[in-house]
Amino acid sequence: GRVAVLAGGDSAERSVSLKSGAAVHQALRQLGLIAELVDPAERGVDTLKGFDVAFIALHGRGGEDGVIQGLLEHLKLPYTGSGVMASAIGMDKVRTKQLWKGAGLPTPPFYVAGLDDRDIGFPLMVKPSHEGSSIGMAKVDSAAELNKALEDARAYDSDVLVEAWVRGPEYTVAIVDGRALPSIRLKTPNAFYDFEAKYQSNSTEYLCPAGLDDADEQALRALALKAFEAVGCQGWGRVDVMRDEHGDWQLLEVNTVPGMTDHSLVPMAAKADGDDFATLVARILLEAVD
Ligand code: DAL
Ligand code: MG
Repeated sequence: GRVAVLAGGDSAERSVSLKSGAAVHQALRQLGLIAELVDPAERGVDTLKGFDVAFIALHGRGGEDGVIQGLLEHLKLPYTGSGVMASAIGMDKVRTKQLWKGAGLPTPPFYVAGLDDRDIGFPLMVKPSHEGSSIGMAKVDSAAELNKALEDARAYDSDVLVEAWVRGPEYTVAIVDGRALPSIRLKTPNAFYDFEAKYQSNSTEYLCPAGLDDADEQALRALALKAFEAVGCQGWGRVDVMRDEHGDWQLLEVNTVPGMTDHSLVPMAAKADGDDFATLVARILLEAVD
């Protein structure tokens, strides 16, 4: 069958998506499949006739948030990853945290700016609710810095999440085929794992295996899988988690279309699990059609 690799789009993560899409496209070709890159921002998605399945490599709003997923449902075209509802919730950090909290899963204390503001101490993380790749985020150490951070975040999103800062370390867990892969520990000299640390820095370190003892590794993977399932996610994704100063896990967010560049985290975890990039892509695609 013919595979449409959806990549690009018009979100703030467009440049990351183009890289993910190119890597996925190359892997599909390598697997001997007929694949074509389709950028919804350029050619629209009414040109999807003739394709048998869509590999969604769109990050951010309009692509990762249920909009494209709904359109593909309407076109009866199978697609990779989560459905409409889980995509919409996963793109929304506030709703994701509310849902986890309701399910009794651990996530740092938070409020929605302008809605249920209260004192949760300092430092804080200020985050546009519907962004990815740390875009528009800031760490705030005092009340004096808060307004500027809120204003900056509002340039990206009218919904702004204010979350208690957790020192870390930060971990991430890839989920593929209903299974949690080996966790990765992220180490950055920056105040947090920001855009620069993610895509530009040479001083970010990735540890996989993460260096946890077996019981901790299993507990982290089990929690990530629960968090993924609580949101109703399907197929594949990545759950970001902090470990607080008490040694407890704190869920940050779920990514329903995580980065798939050759430097990205899900491919790193898959490799530690014995699967090369092309095998990972094949697994994700197969889940969409069975
Ligand atoms: N939002 C980026 C692409 C990620 O989670 O990997
Ligand atoms: Mg994200």
